[in-house]
Amino acid sequence: MSKDTLSVTDNRTGKQYELKIENGCIRAMDLRQMKTDAEDFGIMAYDPAFQNTANTKSAITFIDGDKGILEYRGYPIDQLAEKSTHLETSYLLMNGELPTKAQLHEFTDKITHHTYVHENIKSFMDGFRYDAHPMSMLASTVAALSSFYPEAKQVRNKEVRRHQMTRLIAKMPTLAAFSYRHSQGLPYIYPNNDLPYAENFLTMVKSIGKPNWKAHPALVKALDVLFILHADHEQNCSTTSVRVVGSSEADPYSAVAAGITALYGPLHGGANEAVLRMLREIGDKKNVPEFIKKVKDKDGDKKLMGFGHRVYKNYDPRAKVIKKACDEVFEVTGKNPLLDIAVELERIALQDDYFVQRKLYPNVDFYSGLIYEAMGFPVDFFTCLFAIPRTVGWVCQYEEMINDNEQKIARPRQVFTGQRKRDYVAIDKR
Ligand code: ACO
Repeated sequence: MSKDTLSVTDNRTGKQYELKIENGCIRAMDLRQMKTDAEDFGIMAYDPAFQNTANTKSAITFIDGDKGILEYRGYPIDQLAEKSTHLETSYLLMNGELPTKAQLHEFTDKITHHTYVHENIKSFMDGFRYDAHPMSMLASTVAALSSFYPEAKQVRNKEVRRHQMTRLIAKMPTLAAFSYRHSQGLPYIYPNNDLPYAENFLTMVKSIGKPNWKAHPALVKALDVLFILHADHEQNCSTTSVRVVGSSEADPYSAVAAGITALYGPLHGGANEAVLRMLREIGDKKNVPEFIKKVKDKDGDKKLMGFGHRVYKNYDPRAKVIKKACDEVFEVTGKNPLLDIAVELERIALQDDYFVQRKLYPNVDFYSGLIYEAMGFPVDFFTCLFAIPRTVGWVCQYEEMINDNEQKIARPRQVFTGQRKRDYVAIDKR
């Protein structure tokens, strides 16, 4: 008869143990009973980069990496991208269910009326060098928000916490737009509360000299779809950073600032920026085979940026939607000349044994940069365009962690490999 347990024999002692299997997991703490003697600490699990460790139970986002499935609260990503809006999806992520008309109206109204930032934030932004990276500006100003809302420290008070979550979702486009305007030497444009979320952001970024400047509806729609695709992605590097920082009961602004800094890295959200630089470096379709060869030879640590994923071992479902969105954007902006190189890279890579065997497919960042560039965003602003929509994912995951009775301050163990017990040597004797 089958049982949901795992039998383990410790060959050091000959003792046998039966460990419970729940949701396909054993509890790492159950290993600690396995000791050689009473003094022994007990067995730990060693798992650098958490490759096979679940750190939490979560009901927000489901991914089946082998099948290429992504669902928010059970709804497939392609349906949300086609039929929903970023704010409706945000409500879904935060509350578990799609809103009624009245609920969506109330939620939209709340977000819309928290888009302004304290005037001192502008002076804070002015302090950055003219060429500061927009992601460093975004991370720092979000961290600074914590000093503007000291009540945010009441992380266990639901009403207060939800207020900060609203503020973060509402203010992130404003802060990102301000960081863009600063880096371009342009005056800051205040939010216009008559505009929907994505359009308001585009207007704060792009409008200049014309009070009635209007973003192209097809570009607004494409940006909103990109926002939906980026809203959450379960326990990725930045979300885990938010959870780890939040586990010390740091306020949501400080935790989200940590998420932004994690997202900044080129192996995570910074990949969209790296893809564009890579495509420019390749320069022409005819250079693709030579570039692929360098990647396979691991020449100078070259990687095919925008390819591969820790979880997806199949086509990233978000990349499929983005590829389609490219056509709609390019109809308005004209085709990005780098698209041909990207398509050729994908075509060759998907036929090549190196990529096939390692199950390396395009991820969300492979095509998103092409859209951002066609929309006229500078490359170093791309990751901010990821951080804006991911904010809702971060705050939902933060809240789920706070409400989870099993969670404690995050504190991994280590396997110590250094020297022990040495006597101090005076400097003239070394
Ligand atoms: N190009 C070439 N080879 C690759 C790539 C790539 N993009 N990604 C992985 N590989 C190779 C590795 O060299 C390794 O080869 P080996 O077995 O010969 O040593 C093998 O595939 C397994 O790769 P790992 O690095 O072990 O995979 P891991 O799960 O740790 O990394 C990651 C995932 C970081 C996304 C990786 O695929 C990568 O660096 N991709 C490029 C950067 C990128 O696009 N990041 C965005 C991810 S999506 C997101 O964060 C929003």
